[in-house]
Order: sequence, then C-alpha cells, then structure tokens
Amino acid sequence: MEIETPAAALEREHREIDEAVTAFLREPDDEGRRSGLRTALHELRHHIYLEEEFLFPLLSTMEDALTATVLVMLREHAQIWTTLDALDRALDSDSDDEAAAGVCRELTARLLHHNLKEERVLYPRADTDLNDAALERLRALLEATGLPEGWVCIKAR
Ligand SMILES: [Fe+2]
Ligand SMILES: [Fe+2]
Repeated sequence: MEIETPAAALEREHREIDEAVTAFLREPDDEGRRSGLRTALHELRHHIYLEEEFLFPLLSTMEDALTATVLVMLREHAQIWTTLDALDRALDSDSDDEAAAGVCRELTARLLHHNLKEERVLYPRADTDLNDAALERLRALLEATGLPEGWVCIKAR
C-alpha cells in the first residue's frame, strides 16, 4: 500500500472536518451528527496546532513568499478560532440548533478559502522540502489528537 504523503494527510483532515460540518448542517437535530461535529471541531483545533507549532515555522524559513502566506494563514486561523469558540458555545446551549447551524455556515465559508490556499501554496512544500526528521515528527503529529492544556492559536492570544 502506498504511504500517504504529508500533503495528502493534511488535505484528508480538511476533507474529514468539512464532511462532519456538512453532515451536521443536513441534520442539525441528529445526536450522532452533533457528536461527529464536536469531534471534528476538536480535530480542527489540533490541525491548527500542528500547522502553527510545527509546519508553518519550518515553511516560514524557506522563502519570503511563504513567510507572507503563513502570516495570512495565521490571521485566518484567529478568525476560524473565534468561530470555533462561538460554535462550541452554540452547541453547549443545547436547544439552539439554528444558531449552531448559522455559525457552522460561517465556519464553512472561512475554511473554504483558507484550506484552498494551504493546499495550493503550503502543503506541496511539506512533501518536497522537509528533511527526514521533520517528516517523522509531522507524521507523529498527524497521528496524535491531544492539544496542550489551554493552547490557543497564535493570533488569538
Ligand atoms: Fe490552517
Ligand atoms: Fe490546514
């Protein structure tokens, strides 16, 4: 079996998160969709953690154009993070499916543009420009799910 490249694994995470959000929007009152969404929101926070604490710092040192793109991604992460907080609150307030669905649609729109830029500009470099030690660390992070207690994305601090 072919080993999944880092870019493919990161894109798969984007897709899986999108699918859980879309499934919730189709059936917001379904308990399974709701818990699937909660899992996906946690995965998204972990995905952002991996990008900010590991992948982006490496890519930033490669060339100025990547540094500029990373800066835009960090700003967008802060907007996504705020949206995630709002969505968690809406899900916690139990009865308010319509509010949760509204925030979900906002999240979808934010992710659409953000993910596309990462997939076109940044992720291909993860496949071609990382050394073996960095690739190994990236694979380990992709397997992991935990976040350091209280971790918040860089530009939302
Ligand atoms: Fe990102
Ligand atoms: Fe991403």
